[in-house]
Amino acid sequence: MPAHDSAKCDNRHTLIIAVCILLVMLTEERRGEIQARARAAIGGRTLRRDAWWGYPLWIVFFLTVTIAYSTWAGVLGTHGYFAKPYISPIFSPCLATSCSESTIRIVGKWFPLSPALLVMWLPILFRLTCYYYRKAYYRAFGLLPLPNFGPPACAVREPMPRYSGETKFPFLLQNIHRYFFYLMIGNMVFLTWDTVKAFHFDDGWHVNTGSLVFLVMIATMSLYMLSCHSCRHLVGGRRDLFSRSPLQYRLWKGVSRLNLNHGIFALLSLFWIPVTDLFVRLVAAGVISDIRLF
Ligand code: FES
Repeated sequence: MPAHDSAKCDNRHTLIIAVCILLVMLTEERRGEIQARARAAIGGRTLRRDAWWGYPLWIVFFLTVTIAYSTWAGVLGTHGYFAKPYISPIFSPCLATSCSESTIRIVGKWFPLSPALLVMWLPILFRLTCYYYRKAYYRAFGLLPLPNFGPPACAVREPMPRYSGETKFPFLLQNIHRYFFYLMIGNMVFLTWDTVKAFHFDDGWHVNTGSLVFLVMIATMSLYMLSCHSCRHLVGGRRDLFSRSPLQYRLWKGVSRLNLNHGIFALLSLFWIPVTDLFVRLVAAGVISDIRLF
């Protein structure tokens, strides 16, 4: 190819690349603009006349109290979380040799902190990335001007002008929820074992008040886990043709029915974990007695 033809070709390539870069930038700009416009444009603070702030405020209160208690119990409350045969679910499975009663001793005395820290990260991340909690805390803390949070309710103005949903870092990380779900299945095995042990005393199998406390704990946790969106996907959501797998279809229908109440199970199970912990601590401290029912 003659030299001037080759130069022309190079120029054309440079021009094409420049146009492509410009188009990508414009598209990016346009995407942001479209997303911003797609959010409700509300002139005043809200179009609502009812007490729309009640629900987000209640969620803020509920999450603050339960998280504050669980953090205190897991980080500082390193005594009294075991009262035979009960172990606080915040510490279970207890993996350190420093545990009052170890489930499996895999972490030696070198670990100087609360043994709860070895396990509580998983339920925290599981709940933090849960679809229901995401909706709840985006709305609840949408009362504050936090980027990408809000709106706190329908027909209430956005606290921040730009919104990219969960398409960008760090919100993109919410998509790893399903992997926390898989890990939590292991955690549920230990909680189930703790519940079985809650019926077994030195003098045999009995039902005490504590046994029922643990039964409610595992029931609410199981409902929360079974109604999870990732569970729904796992049991049948990946199928294109249900006619070829009737069992999966039945399972998927069952989980879908539970999924309708996932928010309620999420709150109930979160509430009952500190209740169970508190019960164990009060029994361990001798403040209340663990009444034998039969
Ligand atoms: Fe809530 Fe999975 S969506 S636990």
